Formats: sequence, C-alpha cells, structure tokens
Amino acid sequence: MSTASRDPYRPVAHLRPPRNWINDPNGLVFHDGHYHVFHQYNPNGATHADIHWGHFRSPDLLSWERLPLALSPTPGGEDADGCFSGNAVSDGDRLVVFYSANRWDRSLQHQPVTTAVSVDGGRTFTPRRDLLIPGLPDDCTMYRDPYVWRDGDRWRMLVGAALADGRGAAVLYESPDLETWTYLGPFDAREPEPVGDAGQHTGEGWECPQYLPAESGRPGALIFSAWNEDDGPRCVAALIGEERDDGHGPRLESGSPVLVDHGPDCYAPALLRAPDGRWLLWGWSWEAREESWAAADGWSGVLTLPREISVHADGTLRQRPAAELLALRGQHTVHAEGVALGAQPVELGGVGRSFDLTARLDSDAAAGLRLLTSPDGSEYLDIRLDPDAGELVVDRDHASRDDRARGGSHRMPCPTGRPVELRVVVDHSVAEVFLTSTGQVLTLRFYPTGDGPWRLQARSAPGARLGFAVEAWELLPLTVKEPSADDEQTPRRPA
Ligand code: FRU
Repeated sequence: MSTASRDPYRPVAHLRPPRNWINDPNGLVFHDGHYHVFHQYNPNGATHADIHWGHFRSPDLLSWERLPLALSPTPGGEDADGCFSGNAVSDGDRLVVFYSANRWDRSLQHQPVTTAVSVDGGRTFTPRRDLLIPGLPDDCTMYRDPYVWRDGDRWRMLVGAALADGRGAAVLYESPDLETWTYLGPFDAREPEPVGDAGQHTGEGWECPQYLPAESGRPGALIFSAWNEDDGPRCVAALIGEERDDGHGPRLESGSPVLVDHGPDCYAPALLRAPDGRWLLWGWSWEAREESWAAADGWSGVLTLPREISVHADGTLRQRPAAELLALRGQHTVHAEGVALGAQPVELGGVGRSFDLTARLDSDAAAGLRLLTSPDGSEYLDIRLDPDAGELVVDRDHASRDDRARGGSHRMPCPTGRPVELRVVVDHSVAEVFLTSTGQVLTLRFYPTGDGPWRLQARSAPGARLGFAVEAWELLPLTVKEPSADDEQTPRRPA
C-alpha cells in the first residue's frame, strides 16, 4: 500500500497487481461463490513479454484476494511463448479456462485454443498441455482468443479471427461436452468499416470476441476488439442483432457497428454473467505515456471498473459502473449547484486524487467542468459540452506538463436541448466518463505532474451560461489481500 500512496499514477479502486505489466482481463466467471478476474500478466517486468495469467477473486467486487498465478507458459510446450487471452466457464465443481497458446515459431497470428482445469475453486490449475483445437479453419489468417458459453444443452465457442478475403471475424464452434468441438463457420464477419465519428473502423482482425446472447426481447451483442496487422489494437466495437440459421450454420444478423467505449484507452474488454443475471464488463486501460516512463515506475496497465452492460431494443449498448461501487463512496467533498456566466469560472471545491462525481450540466454553448491539478491552473482536464457538434468532449491536451504523456481531445455523442447527466470516476491516472442519459462511456488515462491539491471548476464560454449541479465523493480504495512472494512467481499445481 505504501508504494501505492507514493506513486501518483497508481489507481486505488481499479484492479491491478502492485508491479509489472498487465493487459486484457481474462477468464471472467462467477464460480464457487466468487467473481474471478484473471488477466494477462508479465510477472517479471513492465513490458508485454512472458505472458502468464494473474488471478483475483472477490465475493462482492469490493474486497479482493490476489491468488497465485493461474497459468504460466510451459518451457518447450504448446504455450511456451505465452498464455494469451481467453475466458472461463463454471461447470459444476470445475472451473475450466480456455486460452490462446502462443509460440512464436507458429505463424505469428495463430494462437490455437487449449485449456486448463481447476477443481479447487481456482487455487490451482492442471494445464492440458496439448491443444484442444490444433488447426485453424482454412481461410483464417489470424486466430486467437476463445470465448466459451453455455447455450441450453450445448457449449459454444467464438474465436477471434481475420479471414483471407480481408474480413475480420468471430468464428463459431459447438460442443456437447467442452471436449469435442465442431466448426460451424464465421458467426459474423465484416470488411473493415467505419465505427463512431472519430475515424475508427472495425479492423482487419477481431481480438477477444465476447457474446451477450439475445434475451427477453432484447437483441444480442457481439463485442470485439478491432486490430490491424500494421498498427495493432485500435478500438472496441459491437455488432447488435439476432441469430439466424439459413442452413449454413448460425450467423448473427447485425446492423451497423457501434463503439463500446468512446475513449482512446480501453481495449479487450471481457464479460462476466453475475449470479443475479447482470452482465458485467471489465476492459484493459493501457498507459497513455511513453513506455520508458511506465517501465521506470515498474508497472503498466489497469483494469477498468466493473461496468454493468445491457443491450437495448433500439440497437444501443448502455454501461454504468457496477452498483456495488457506490459502497466505495467516502467523504462527500463537493455539493454545488449554481450558474457559471461568461468567462468567470465558479470554484466547486477540492477533490482528492480518486473521486466519484455526478453532474447535471445545462447549457446551449461550450461549457463544462475543469479538474485543475496544479495550483497555478496551468494543468487541467476538461470535460465540456459541445452543443453545436452534439458531443461531450474530454480534453487532456493540458492534463500533463510532461510531454511524455499523450494529449488530444476525445468525443462522444451527447443529446442536446436538455440537461446532461454525467457520472465521472477519476482514480489517479484513469478517468471513466459515463453519460448517464445514453449509457455511453469514454475511458482515458492522464498524468498530472502537480503535487498540490486538486480542485473542480464550472466554466462556460464568454457570453454563455451554464447551469450546474455537482456532487463528488472521495473514492475509497479496494481491499486487496496479496499472495505470498512464492505464489507471485510460480503457479501452484494441485497437490
Ligand atoms: C489483445 C491481445 C489478445 C492476445 C493477448 C496477448 O490485447 O493481443 O488478442 O491474446 O492480447 O497478450
């Protein structure tokens, strides 16, 4: 904990181990009375190398225990160069994880599926060693990241893929027993196509497909992370629709793609079905600063907050922080209501480096909130309405005086003509901005250098008027019980 308080960028309410590199959340499952969150992890450094699966579990999303490493590459084995992403299912007493077995001496983009099983609630895993699905379908040029789910009396699996004809795809399998898998073809596939208004597209290949099946009159959603051969990971998109089978296997009949997160710093999200039926989603929020800076600090990457995600009949996805997180609200630090007129900002009060905020903003001109992170006001993160464009803007161009931090302003669609309701969770270097009225979200990282107190202002453009109501609470840290040093380095095997 002392490291956490000294490092100004290390979040306290977002999951990650104390040191080293993490990327995608993996194996999200409720099993044996616990939410299990695994993640891509290099236990020996702050770069993407030597990828293992780290593991946390929690009964309530608030108090967590970090368990021993779950999966590690087997020297000379099928996963010798990394236990890449995948998911997990709870099958009676068994916790079965499915993952991508990486060897650099295979085709670079072919990470076939293998498994490991735990019968002690996830404390120890027995890896399968050989491959569950050794080959890849003929027309795949990239293939990784299984997602398995139960559908009636069968199991189904999607794997992320790129097809030789230039389409990104999620390919489908089914199995009666988790062991014998039959290939059913692409479940959905698209040529790269625009998604959102910021120049993103659906990518040449789809990583980490996740599926939220249609239910109770609501359509289903296929969520995937858009990846290109040349410039790597790009954004997270979803296709929303219904399943059909016209005799060539089940297919998702989907509409235009939508963005799952409008920010620059959320990738490879994964789904968990909670016991009460909610779908929860965690993403990987990567660093938006130079790699050498993260490496010097000894860690890289955080998981986003767990978010409740739902699909709606109008073809939209909505997200909000998991209800449990309200329990992390500590001291009520800001309670402000009023009007900001013209260029004269209104001081709303001080906030700590982690806080949870709600705001109602009402303006027909450029106006919003400023989080000031240096006493002289030169360093700040802006969250403002752009009613002319019909967008909410999160601007980090002045959020760090260190030019090794990325800048840029990022936008999400925002209905105009009525007050805008926001929920903003800031935790040291990560901000998650939820538009409450539409359920859209924007995640970004920022790296303030000021060491004085932080404060909030309401501001509007010259000649304009902003009506505001803002409440903020301290965001308390998660409780995380750490494993022993040995467990940190070597996965335990069943006794
Ligand atoms: C997504 C991803 C996955 C892969 C894993 C490797 O970020 O590239 O496709 O399995 O990360 O760490």
